[in-house]
Amino acid sequence: MTGIKIDGLEVAKNVKQEVSEIVKKLSEQGITPCLATILVGNNSASQTYVRNKHKACEEVGIITQDHQPSEDITQKKLNELIDSLNDDASVHGILLQLPLPNELNEFEATSRILPEKDVDGLTPHNVGLLSIGSSILKPCTPSGIIEMFDYYKISLEGKNVVIINRSNLVGKPLYHLLLQRNSTVTTCHSRTLNLQEVCKNADIVISGVGDRDKFTLTSDMIKENAIVIDVATTHYDGKLKGDSDFDEIISKASYASPVPGGVGPMTVAMLLKNTITAATLSKGIDI
Ligand SMILES: NC(=O)c1ccc[n+]([C@@H]2O[C@H](COP(=O)([O-])OP(=O)(O)OC[C@H]3O[C@@H](n4cnc5c(N)ncnc54)[C@H](OP(=O)(O)O)[C@@H]3O)[C@@H](O)[C@H]2O)c1
Repeated sequence: MTGIKIDGLEVAKNVKQEVSEIVKKLSEQGITPCLATILVGNNSASQTYVRNKHKACEEVGIITQDHQPSEDITQKKLNELIDSLNDDASVHGILLQLPLPNELNEFEATSRILPEKDVDGLTPHNVGLLSIGSSILKPCTPSGIIEMFDYYKISLEGKNVVIINRSNLVGKPLYHLLLQRNSTVTTCHSRTLNLQEVCKNADIVISGVGDRDKFTLTSDMIKENAIVIDVATTHYDGKLKGDSDFDEIISKASYASPVPGGVGPMTVAMLLKNTITAATLSKGIDI
């Protein structure tokens, strides 16, 4: 008995289609959504992520600005760049690619982005709104996971959900989004005791560790017919992998998402969605 693959590429395609239609409607009103990205230095993984984001924008008709200051940029100069994009009315969304080089303060830089242009949903203002259930621009990876559940009509109401991750990017915002859907949420991390027992009780396990030397989610850790979402991306055995081996997990799970082709495409799709939301908000229109 094998479960159903949660196909992130298919769900992302659906979101992109929706975004393209809204971009057309916006253009009829003379608005061209624009995303500005800032990539400091030449971290090759970050370069790939930013390139993919630009390509996805192009596919749906969102225009982009590509800012690539060198890694010795000062905090002051980075802040000035962010301020200039905040002031530029033609820019609707600003994405600061993380991580920044060690000399720069990520919190200071992220906090400087105007909340209404914060398409990553990571400014303190938007994090606060998320925690009280009032956010509009939500972090892309967690909201992409919720979108996957909705697409497959997986009800979250009353479900026991275990998240293995407590980062600001993934686990914490996901906790709030799931709570808003009336799930019972348990957040696990590197100090959690008896992780296997905690997972065995879960209807849904969402795993985002990203280090196979420390952790692998195996089928003996989940209950029969559980749903598994694998957020992690790590290079292991020369391949891009998640925390679990899809073929093994799907033999016991009712649904599971693979890596690659699961959460990754959703993160990009939700960035596009946030950018058009920011563009519509900036013009005070409702599409
Ligand atoms: N597909 C996508 O679009 C996407 C987006 C974002 C992230 N990711 C991937 O998701 C993974 C996590 O990203 P992140 O930024 O959240 O990383 P992170 O900040 O390093 O978070 C990793 C989490 O795993 C926990 N952990 C570490 N070892 C563990 C263990 N042995 N048992 C249980 N929990 C353990 C950590 O616990 P502590 O807090 O105690 O250290 C932490 O909460 C990475 O592989 C990243 O590439 C993918």
